[in-house]
Amino acid sequence: MEFRRVDNLPPYVFAVIRDLTLELRRAGEDVVDLGFGNPDLASPDIAVEKLAEAAQNPRNHRYSASKGIPNLRLACANLYKRRFGVELDHETQVLNTIGAKEGLSHLMWVLLEPGDSALVPSPSYPIHIHGPILAGAAVTRVPMGPDEEDLFANLEDAWERAQPKPRVLILSFPHNPTTATVDLEFMERVVAFARHHGILVVHDFAYADLAFDGYEPPSILQVPGADEVAVELYTLTKSFSMAGWRVGFVVGNAAVVGALARLKSWLDYGTFQPIQIAAIVAMNELPDYPRDVSAVYQSRRDTLCDGLARAGWVFPKPKGTMFVWAPIPEQFRELGSLAFAEKLAREASVAVSPGIGFGGDGEGFVRFALVENEHRIGQAVRGIRKLLERSPEPTGVSRS
Ligand SMILES: Cc1ncc(COP(=O)(O)O)c(C=O)c1O
Repeated sequence: MEFRRVDNLPPYVFAVIRDLTLELRRAGEDVVDLGFGNPDLASPDIAVEKLAEAAQNPRNHRYSASKGIPNLRLACANLYKRRFGVELDHETQVLNTIGAKEGLSHLMWVLLEPGDSALVPSPSYPIHIHGPILAGAAVTRVPMGPDEEDLFANLEDAWERAQPKPRVLILSFPHNPTTATVDLEFMERVVAFARHHGILVVHDFAYADLAFDGYEPPSILQVPGADEVAVELYTLTKSFSMAGWRVGFVVGNAAVVGALARLKSWLDYGTFQPIQIAAIVAMNELPDYPRDVSAVYQSRRDTLCDGLARAGWVFPKPKGTMFVWAPIPEQFRELGSLAFAEKLAREASVAVSPGIGFGGDGEGFVRFALVENEHRIGQAVRGIRKLLERSPEPTGVSRS
């Protein structure tokens, strides 16, 4: 049988490393798994307690509101006011989604049709590329470039190249997988670009709260008037360590939020109400929780990056996300990222994501997800150090 929409999805490169990790573990190897970005930290106690309590009440067993109950949307609006100084009308500008991923995917159905196109940075979180494609649209790739100046130039260039002219620009900062970060001035330029070309910006803000060394990621909605041309995805997955709960939001432009609410009212009956009630408690009562989570990831980042640097693998530390994006050391570069990731799994007992899995522009890199504790990350560093000692870098080649 043919399943054209699904058959056209490329093979999931990450599955190769996931299967290899399972195989090695079955054979008794203690592989440190820094591959899949699945947060390992426990969700807040009061959210778990509230969920259990709310689940006892039969009134919460019925279908809920597909767009989210009003107090959940209000809690999100209040979080935006408190965290970013952004005013949102929770009735028209905030919609609950089943995590950012579902929100983004269905948003593409609302915004794009066959014959349309979207601008998407590359490398990218895979659904940023395949969300528009699943909606039948074409994607024009925008190479990330080493800094925001390059990205902006590449964006202008991609606009010129794109046929048909794009209706949507997908962005996400702090960025998975490259960990690139931007400042508010960059967002101002993006908003001006969107106004000038009459396109909508979808900003996936999944790492809104995971920022290090005093860096504060901007919300695109902090730019005055941004809600005329932008929506943003916010999620409790990383900020509140609530990955499995599937609580996210699309916020900003009221017409877009309304259109997605309309589509979702056809597709689902909303998140299980006890989860919504627990999410309200987390957002209202734990304003400092995201900062504490971020401190855990910062410390893991330091253990990994400092350890790798001592082993001779040196590159700049990320300012945000829960990842480390590392250029493949010179002596292994010819292998390519998939074979190098396999080598790390087999010979250093460390699983990472090959950069190629995030699109062709990710080749030459591997991504570490900081989802094991510092003790285990230290173990990963020791494994990698031994591998590097066995295969020293050729003399005269600079490390970067
Ligand atoms: C850029 C980005 N967006 C969205 C998600 C998924 O978020 P959620 O769990 O809210 O669907 C991830 C998770 O890795 C991500 O990296």
